[in-house]
Amino acid sequence: MRLADDEYGAVAPIYDAATAWALDPLRRELGEAVGRERAVKVLDVCCGTGRQCLFYAKTGRDAVGLDLSWGMIRRAARLENIHAARMAFLRGDACRLPFPDASFIVSTIALALHEKPPGMRPLILAEMLRVTAPGGLIGVVDYLSPKTGAQSALSWGVKAVERLAGRDHHAHYADYMRQGGLEGLLERQGMRMFDVRRRMFGLIGIALIRRPA
Ligand SMILES: C[S@@+](CC[C@H](N)C(=O)[O-])C[C@H]1O[C@@H](n2cnc3c(N)ncnc32)[C@H](O)[C@@H]1O
Repeated sequence: MRLADDEYGAVAPIYDAATAWALDPLRRELGEAVGRERAVKVLDVCCGTGRQCLFYAKTGRDAVGLDLSWGMIRRAARLENIHAARMAFLRGDACRLPFPDASFIVSTIALALHEKPPGMRPLILAEMLRVTAPGGLIGVVDYLSPKTGAQSALSWGVKAVERLAGRDHHAHYADYMRQGGLEGLLERQGMRMFDVRRRMFGLIGIALIRRPA
């Protein structure tokens, strides 16, 4: 991949400074949910700078993070150097996960599906189902459809941020929301949430799905 093709390469150095204050509480909560599983090895797809993996490692899990962006993977590798042992990061495509079937007891993805083209979202979820063991857990964090007037009003702020991220990014986000956000996507994939927590003023959900045994 050429540097110019790395969509997240330019933002990677400032990504954590800009987002960790808001996203770390969600990461901690997902980390605690995963900590209740018997999982040893956990996969985080589209892992970005690797901070979700950090929360898995803190609860004694071995975390593998995968991302398409070299810039993000390089930042994640710095985390790996600091916290050693329990984390590994690799560059790869979420649509073709380089792992055999049922390799992980848990797989997660955060704030990545909404920005993907419509045809890519089901592919990624299908890959996560494939690499997660029967009876294992899949965690998805992403935008929910607003349920109240206040949430609809606040979602204008999200729209503005998504617009700043670029034309394609915004078009994919708009399509994702039109199709019912996270609930709509999971329902179309036949993935039943057994738990969904509304966070960040009700705009973002932490959804937990059990892979059928
Ligand atoms: C908004 S960031 C979210 C990062 C991280 N999950 C978080 O919550 O901070 C989306 C991430 O998806 C990655 N990504 C985009 N397309 C991908 C693909 N096809 N395979 C793997 N990662 C991808 C980007 O490089 C980026 O790091």
